[in-house]
Amino acid sequence: MIVLGIETSCDETAAAVVAGGVPGPGRILSNVVASQTAEHAPFGGVVPEIAARAHASLVDGVTRQALSDAGVGLDRLSGIAVTAGPGLIGGVVVGLLFAKGLALASGLPLLPVNHLAAHALTVRLTDGVAFPYLLLLISGGHCQLIIVSGPSEYERLGTTIDDAAGEAFDKTAKLLGLGYPGGPRVETAARSGDPFRFSLPRPLLDSPGLDFSFSGLKTAVRRAAELAAPLSDPGVRDLAAAFQLAVTDILVNRTRRAMAAVRGRLGPTPAFVVAGGVAANQALRTALVEAASLEGFSFLAPPPSLCTDNGAMVAWAGLELFAAGQGLGADEQLKVSPRARWPLDMRFAGVPGAKA
Ligand SMILES: Nc1ncnc2c1ncn2[C@@H]1O[C@H](COP(=O)(O)OP(=O)(O)OP(=O)(O)O)[C@@H](O)[C@H]1O
Ligand SMILES: [Mg+2]
Repeated sequence: MIVLGIETSCDETAAAVVAGGVPGPGRILSNVVASQTAEHAPFGGVVPEIAARAHASLVDGVTRQALSDAGVGLDRLSGIAVTAGPGLIGGVVVGLLFAKGLALASGLPLLPVNHLAAHALTVRLTDGVAFPYLLLLISGGHCQLIIVSGPSEYERLGTTIDDAAGEAFDKTAKLLGLGYPGGPRVETAARSGDPFRFSLPRPLLDSPGLDFSFSGLKTAVRRAAELAAPLSDPGVRDLAAAFQLAVTDILVNRTRRAMAAVRGRLGPTPAFVVAGGVAANQALRTALVEAASLEGFSFLAPPPSLCTDNGAMVAWAGLELFAAGQGLGADEQLKVSPRARWPLDMRFAGVPGAKA
C-alpha cells in the first residue's frame, strides 16, 4: 500500500507519502513540512485565521512536493489520508476540502484520519509495535493515557482536567519571555538551569485516578516569577528547569500508576509508547524510559521529528484504516465533515461537542 497523507490542523502544512503494510514498520517515501512559525511568532502563539490562510496558500505546493519527492504519481496511490479533526477548524476545512477534491478527481478512496490517532499510531510506522499498548499522548492540545487496541480502538484511562502538557510549556515560555514555539525554548533554557532553586507544586500527584492537572503549576510559575522579579537570565533558566522537572514528575507519576493498573491486560511483554509534540522533550523521554524499565514495560517513542505534527503520521494512520477496509468511496467522501473536536474513543459518527 502507498498512501498520501495531508495535515493542516494546526500551524504546520504537511504532506507525506508512506508505503508498507500493517503492523509496520512502514517506509516514509517523502515527508514535507512547511512550518508557519515565523508568521505566528510576532503574536506569541498560533492565530487561527492566519493559519487557515497560510494552509490555503501552501497545501497545493506542499502536496505536489511530497508526491514529487516520493517519485510517485496519484496513479500509484492506494488512498488519500487527511486530518479531519480535531484541530483549528479553518485549517481542518482547508485540508479536508483539498483532499476530497483530489480523491474525487483521481477516483481514490478518502481516508479521514483523527489527528490524535495519527500521533497514537506513529510508533507502528517507525517500529511496527503490536496492539495493544499503553500510550501517553502529550501534545499542544492533549494530555491523555490511552490503551490502543486497534487503528480505531482507543480506551481513554485519564486526561487533563485543565491545560494540556504542551499548552503548559507554551504558556510558561510566554511568561518567562522565551517566545514561541514554547516547548523547545523551555527545554533549551532548562538544560542549563538549576531545577531546585524554585520549589513548584505537582498538582494531583499521588491522588487516585489517572487524570492530570497543570493549571496550578502554571499559576505557581507566574507567582515565582513575580516574587523573583526582575528575573535575570539565570533565573529564567532555573525557573524553566523547575517547571520542566515538575511536569516530568507529574507525567511519570501518572504513567507509572497507569502501568500498574493495566499491566495484566497488555500481555506478557507490555509496551509503553509516548507520542505527541511534548514527547520530543529529551529530559522527559529519559525519565519515562526509566519509569518503563522500573515497571517492566518496553519503551517506544517516535523520533522527535515525527512527534510534532507531520504528514507521515497521517499517511500511516490512513494506511491502517485502508488495511482495515475503512477507505471511503466517492458517495461517502462528500459526507465527511471537519471536526474541531473529535475524542479518540468516539467513532466518526459520534456526537460532536465533548472535549477531546
Ligand atoms: N522539546 C519540547 N519540549 C516540550 N514541549 C515541546 C517540545 N517540542 C514541542 N513541544 C510542544 O508540543 C506541542 C506541539 O505538539 P503537536 O504538534 O503534537 O501539538 P498540536 O498538533 O498543536 O496539538 P494536538 O496534537 O493536541 O492537536 C507544543 O505545545 C510545543 O510546545
Ligand atoms: Mg499534533
